Amino acid sequence: MRLINIALVVVLTVHSTFSVDKNNFKTCEQSGFCKRLRNLKPEKSQYSLNLDSVFVHGNVLSAEVITVNHDTENKNVLWHYALKLSALVDGTFRVEIDEAEPLYPRYRTQLSLDGEPKPDSLKLVSKENGQITVSNSQGYKVVIRAEPLKFTFLDKNGEEAVVLNDNAQLFVEPLRVKNSGDEENAVESDEGAWSESFKSHHDSKPRGNEAVSLDVAFPDADQVYGIPEHTDKLNLATTTSGEPYRLYNLDVFEFELDSRMAIYGAIPVLYAHGSKRTVGVFWHNSAETWVDIVNYGDETVVGSLVNLVTGGQKRRVDARLMSESGIVDVFVMMGDRPSDVFRQYTKLTGVAPLPPRFSLAYHQSRWNYVDEADVRAVDEGFDEHDVPADVLWLDIEYTDGKKYFTWDPIKFPHPAEMVANLTAKGRKMVVIIDPHIKREAGYFLHEDATEMGLYVKNKDGKDYDGWCWPGSSSYLDFFNPAVIKYYTERYKFQNFPGTSKDVHIWNDMNEPSVFNGPEITMPKDCRHYKSPQDGEEGIASFWEHRHVHNEYGLSYIKGTHEGMMARTDAHYRPFILSRAVFAGTQRFAAVWTGDNMAEWGFLAASVPMCLSLATAGVSFCGSDVGGFFKYPDAELMTRWYQAGAFQAFFRAHSHIETKRREPWLYDATTLARIRDAVRRRYALLDFWYTLFYEHSIDGLPVTRPLFQQYPQEQQTYTIDNTYLLGDKLLVSPVVEAGVSSVKVYLPGRERRELWYDVDTFQQHSANGHIHQDVNIGKIPVYQRGGTIIPRKERVRRSSTLMTNDPYTLLAALDVNGTAEGTLYIDDGETFDYKSNKYIYAKITFSPDAMTYKLQNNAHYPTRTWVERIVVAGIKTAPKSAQLIQGESRSALHMTIHRGNDVLVVRKPGAKMAADWEIRFTY
Ligand SMILES: *[C@@H]1O[C@H](CO)[C@@H](O)[C@H](O)[C@H]1NC(C)=O
Ligand SMILES: *[C@@H]1O[C@H](CO)[C@@H](O)[C@H](O)[C@H]1NC(C)=O
Repeated sequence: MRLINIALVVVLTVHSTFSVDKNNFKTCEQSGFCKRLRNLKPEKSQYSLNLDSVFVHGNVLSAEVITVNHDTENKNVLWHYALKLSALVDGTFRVEIDEAEPLYPRYRTQLSLDGEPKPDSLKLVSKENGQITVSNSQGYKVVIRAEPLKFTFLDKNGEEAVVLNDNAQLFVEPLRVKNSGDEENAVESDEGAWSESFKSHHDSKPRGNEAVSLDVAFPDADQVYGIPEHTDKLNLATTTSGEPYRLYNLDVFEFELDSRMAIYGAIPVLYAHGSKRTVGVFWHNSAETWVDIVNYGDETVVGSLVNLVTGGQKRRVDARLMSESGIVDVFVMMGDRPSDVFRQYTKLTGVAPLPPRFSLAYHQSRWNYVDEADVRAVDEGFDEHDVPADVLWLDIEYTDGKKYFTWDPIKFPHPAEMVANLTAKGRKMVVIIDPHIKREAGYFLHEDATEMGLYVKNKDGKDYDGWCWPGSSSYLDFFNPAVIKYYTERYKFQNFPGTSKDVHIWNDMNEPSVFNGPEITMPKDCRHYKSPQDGEEGIASFWEHRHVHNEYGLSYIKGTHEGMMARTDAHYRPFILSRAVFAGTQRFAAVWTGDNMAEWGFLAASVPMCLSLATAGVSFCGSDVGGFFKYPDAELMTRWYQAGAFQAFFRAHSHIETKRREPWLYDATTLARIRDAVRRRYALLDFWYTLFYEHSIDGLPVTRPLFQQYPQEQQTYTIDNTYLLGDKLLVSPVVEAGVSSVKVYLPGRERRELWYDVDTFQQHSANGHIHQDVNIGKIPVYQRGGTIIPRKERVRRSSTLMTNDPYTLLAALDVNGTAEGTLYIDDGETFDYKSNKYIYAKITFSPDAMTYKLQNNAHYPTRTWVERIVVAGIKTAPKSAQLIQGESRSALHMTIHRGNDVLVVRKPGAKMAADWEIRFTY
């Protein structure tokens, strides 16, 4: 325990001013390859295609690419590269450029793809005038100009949609042999080629320089989005006068807002959007990556440059991607609308599987609930104050001296009983397990890992020893199958006593965080497992941490996921929360935005941060409600709960040094408002659950930027404080102090969209901004006309206790007087839905009838029923209504409210297990 306190004191005193210590993190200038590549600006590409080598077979075009490189004596030599262009299903292409005969294999990112992408057909269209044209089955074409090398992707109208290497920034630094004396004799351009230093850290760079870079142009684009995780706006900024966006998973203590600095997550996907089309590129690379952006529509981009590059056209965005290692491997997604590219991306990297239902409810966490009595008091506090809650969380202090898979014997002597007490109320527990392993004699995990060789190695091949919460720590190497096998066993209930199917896992610090490492992470020359079947020796017998860094955190949660699946023989769905993020993380875990602060700016930032992650596959996102560091006053706390209630992952969490802040520790009115916000979440739980089910089928974001649904509406392109849940609810949380009115943008003028205030049913015609009054109880949320949303309005202590509760169906009518919605129901926790034990129903409303129809052969014996139907926006009230379900017919009772435009059908009693219809007569 003392070790922790020392670590804490160090951390807290050094950073007592509450702002990021930028000296700990590299700028582009301080990152050898970024400095090198960013300064390279050739007039034309040095790479060319050997047209005679082009070969098209199946879905692949292969060819040789040539350039002139310097050899070790600095003489010019011809260098050969292998180009592979593949056509993939769903309007996607892949371009790979690797050395034809590298000294040893270059790293290929291993974990982000959800299996091998499915091929489409590829047809040779023409080969003339120094260029070659191919097309896929959908009519998208790729024109490859041989010299200088350039790839132009044409949309179905034959217009340029994406251009690679238009700005001549394709580079693949060839692997070279290190000669003795290289370091001393290095020419200036070679500075840092065989080692570099940052602060007191030395990187031995045993393979030398191996960076890759490529520029991507997006003609006609107004904005580009993507490359989370940053605290910047959703639409990316021009970077010419500052730092590029950086992608490198880092534990940034007190990270700053409005920044392009790297933080915990790194997803190298970019989307370009304009009124003509939406396209995307996924840069498949797990090494440190920097991204420069030039938006020619930005006022900051000088006119001469605009004219030079775009011929005077204002609509175009250029991006440049630079990575420290790997190959050029880029997926080009042809769109052509936002929903298409978001889907195309999840086809590559996978969707979030249906989460257990409880995980969409409210979570209560703190560093730390100190002992069993504390857990019990907090649990009882929720009952006493009538605030629903599903999960209590335990941070690192529950362990026996930061040894994971153990419990502190004094503070948590009866974990099984503690968990059973929670589950008796339908509640769950989440406990933290981090990747650093305490190097302590007698700790089984450390002894096993040492003996079996499961740790990441340092540059000399010894177990790497870093500093984290437990003090001296080593890190399991999840690229080694033996580690996965060993680790999977650790989650067996008998190996982790006190846990049950109702104990789920939080994986923190998995960037990985190393307190005494360069940039608070693992040295890049640490060694990871490489499959021996590659048959390499010496330097080629391992991968370096530099190659895998951004997917280390993913390797870790993948291991956790396998363990949690195995512990119940794949019967129950696991819930995992991860801090590090990479492409594909969504297949295993939810994500939160890390150690934020109890400040309004961080509340505001949580919206674009999660929205950006959602477009990159990670819809299951939230921020620490209340803020991790510092103490939120009553107003901030209230607004944060209100915002959190409408974000996918809804968890309050706080730092160990902050004042306790369970909802009832605030004054009675604040408690009442928090209670109201949490109850709103529970009322909409089945709506959220249905959205996540639909995401698991169609791969679309659950939380959506406005431009996704309104791609022609230019005003939406830069709005990132407002978003949509599915295509149904518009949410614009209040994120400013002391306001009594906010501006909310209601999109869809062209479609004559109507938006209904969910509290009052007041109808707004879509017409841009409205001024919304927001007293402290108000959450600006609007239901789109044309939608039906299921609610459950009975108050319970936890979501499990709501299983059989009846539904209220809320229909908000469009200008035509119609609406539709969906509802998904299953047992909420098992994989039985995969064998058709679920209900997916479509609900429609027209002036004649409301119908509820099961959509497939699936079935689940739910006892739920409809206790109320509310229809907002009716023009003429029906005289009578009759329910028809099976053989039964019953007349229904209706009332009319508000300005005669809200109809309430009381107690229809229709059952969710079978189709029904309500007929209206006038
Ligand atoms: C479980 O609940 C019982 C009954 O309230 C209580 O006596 C017991 O101390 C609880 N156990 C733990 C470990 O919290
Ligand atoms: C209303 O109906 C018309 C004619 O069927 C259709 O074109 C239009 O899209 C509908 N409007 C809405 C908002 O659904």
